[in-house]
Amino acid sequence: MELDKALDLIADVPDFPEPGVLFRDLSPLFADAAGFKAVTDALADTVDPGADLLAGVEARGFLLAAAVGYARGLGVALIRKPGKLPRVAGRVGYTLEYGTATVELPEGVVLPGQRVAVLDDVLATGGTVAATCKLLEDAKVQVTGVSVVMELGALGGRSVLEGRRVEALRVC
Ligand code: PRP
Repeated sequence: MELDKALDLIADVPDFPEPGVLFRDLSPLFADAAGFKAVTDALADTVDPGADLLAGVEARGFLLAAAVGYARGLGVALIRKPGKLPRVAGRVGYTLEYGTATVELPEGVVLPGQRVAVLDDVLATGGTVAATCKLLEDAKVQVTGVSVVMELGALGGRSVLEGRRVEALRVC
């Protein structure tokens, strides 16, 4: 499937999770075999050839990072929401478009000096990905870049990530 057609499978859901927020729902894309493959292949092409590891952000970033990791022969660091990990190596709090949140890094998944590429589904305000980059850099890891399926340009996420390599398959 062509990448554009695959990206057209993403559904816009108004007023979720709060009034005024337009939620980008990737569920139909993940459920479509050809669409999921097209997006996985395109994202895999954006990952720096020198990356040692991928980092996927809970929850939809997990699926993307797992698929890209398989395609590229790389492992995945699972960047988690709070309260899930038995051993926490680090945590960073941040503000979301709708509320506040925290990301946590598990113990025993990254080594200092490793080069890690960050994957997520949507870049909105950039808070989640910026916090993830800080979390990794606090662990003395080098972030090679950020790859997302969709960037919501109006929310300014790219400016929060200034100086980083940011690849988006579609900018809305
Ligand atoms: C969404 C999305 C990104 C983040 C983007 O996650 O999957 O991780 O928001 O927003 P930002 O750029 O403004 O930080 P959500 O909080 O809905 O979590 P989920 O994937 O666990 O549902």
